Amino acid sequence: MHHPVLEFVHAGEIISLTGVPPTRTLLQLLREDLGLTATKEGCNEGDCGACTVVLAEKVADQLRYSAVNSCIRLAHSIHGMALWTAQDLAGADGTLHPVQQALHNSNASQCGFCTPGFAMSLFGLYQNQVLQGEAISREQAQQALSGNLCRCTGYQPILHAAQTMAALPQVSQDNAAILSKLELITHTGQGLEADFSYKAPDTLAELLRERAAHPQAQLVAGCTDVGLWINKGHMNFASVLDVSRVAELRQISRDANTLTIGAAVTLSDAFDALLAERSQLHSFASRFAGLPVRNAGTLGGNVANGSPIGDSMPLLIALHARVLLASVRGQRTVPLESLYTGYRQNIIAADEVLTRIDVPRPTVNEFLRVYKVSKRFEDDISALCLALRIELHDGSVDCVSIGVGGVAATPVRASQTQAALTGQVWSQALIERAMHTLRHEFEPISDMRASSDYRRRVLGNLLQRFWLETQGQAATEVAHFSLEGTSL
Ligand SMILES: Cc1cc2nc3c(=O)[nH]c(=O)nc-3n(C[C@H](O)[C@H](O)[C@H](O)COP(=O)(O)OP(=O)(O)OC[C@H]3O[C@@H](n4cnc5c(N)ncnc54)[C@H](O)[C@@H]3O)c2cc1C
Ligand code: FES
Ligand code: FES
Repeated sequence: MHHPVLEFVHAGEIISLTGVPPTRTLLQLLREDLGLTATKEGCNEGDCGACTVVLAEKVADQLRYSAVNSCIRLAHSIHGMALWTAQDLAGADGTLHPVQQALHNSNASQCGFCTPGFAMSLFGLYQNQVLQGEAISREQAQQALSGNLCRCTGYQPILHAAQTMAALPQVSQDNAAILSKLELITHTGQGLEADFSYKAPDTLAELLRERAAHPQAQLVAGCTDVGLWINKGHMNFASVLDVSRVAELRQISRDANTLTIGAAVTLSDAFDALLAERSQLHSFASRFAGLPVRNAGTLGGNVANGSPIGDSMPLLIALHARVLLASVRGQRTVPLESLYTGYRQNIIAADEVLTRIDVPRPTVNEFLRVYKVSKRFEDDISALCLALRIELHDGSVDCVSIGVGGVAATPVRASQTQAALTGQVWSQALIERAMHTLRHEFEPISDMRASSDYRRRVLGNLLQRFWLETQGQAATEVAHFSLEGTSL
């Protein structure tokens, strides 16, 4: 099997590499193959941000910049993109880029190990916001840095740097020159030649043909789950089929009833689309991993991976989302919860690909909340996730839909609790009965994230919280009451 040519633009030049294995990570490529050691390795699992780099991809004739973790990114996935690492920021004469100058001015670095990653997350923010003439709020700075950990400086000076870099003399990239270099990179390196070890088709028809011909190839989208299997599970794949370039899988569309999100839409874009019509999901969306993971990971990857503590599935179950599975044989749609058959097992056949997620649009009287309980507020996996959607009519429950994560081997629907609520008068007495039902509907396990008892207890408390919120009480007021000290 041959490894395809890998080409990308770095420091204004096209880098062309041969012999790169399909599971070589971008961080390994940078540090070990190219000697670009400004990018650091910390956790090697997407958690610390030391390895952050910025990629730019041509989208609708413009460059789209995003910060990603290089440690869990497959090197071949950046074919046809432009790349910046921390050593590409300063000018040729050594003049610091505004993000570097702001970090320096704010005393925002001590040991400096995390600093290249912070600088790159700030560079992504700089390109996307400062150069568009937008000021940076503290919340935006926190979001941009949500995937970066610092153990010694403390975040205050780093946030200060983020909020003051816009005041320094501007530095922009020569986008036109980069775009013209990207034009010179052909797609042949990633093409569909029969014996290539890494394939990244452009169209759904090609993808389905490849999937049928190579059912043993490891399917990969953003690689934020698969990257951990490679780095931490030491798995090696002889061939990889990358879905992230398939045009049809990257589309978002709406009609009167349905928001359709392509399986390879990044989590960042998918949450933006969901937020556009359900703004109450803001806090939930911002607590899904950190920004570099959301910029790379996809909604389809989260759903297909099927982790029992995956965050999007409880929400999608509560919204009655359906997924479309396609193969050369045809296609079928199933309700999201019917996708799963057991712990990380699903009904996706060897020749099938998950192509899109159909989400019903909000109704006028919908009341929706998602509660994620985790040990850390940001960038942490759920111990428990509860999504509730209710429609009330004349004070009674017209319809209710509840998705739960962290209580069973798969994400699940709380059918018994739904049945207990449906058609009943929406009242404190009803909630007390339903809390009991919800606490006993599942057999959650005890693990390092939470004990079984804790999960049961919090489940009921969250339902109580939901009830209070339907009565107009703000979430912050009820948090202490319902969660008895748990940080939400
Ligand atoms: C630091 C860190 C924090 C994280 N935080 C969270 C969190 O807060 N909440 C959460 O839920 N998850 C979290 N994750 C997990 C991960 O980011 C998500 O599950 C993400 O959505 C996976 O998408 P991906 O595109 O990267 O999938 P990949 O890693 O590329 O693939 C995952 C699985 O899905 C399959 N797959 C991908 N696309 C398709 C498709 N179109 N059809 C069929 N199969 C497909 C792959 O074959 C693979 O089995 C975190 C991960 C990291 C590293
Ligand atoms: S090394 Fe920690 S996120 Fe990549
Ligand atoms: S400066 Fe030491 S970890 Fe951030």
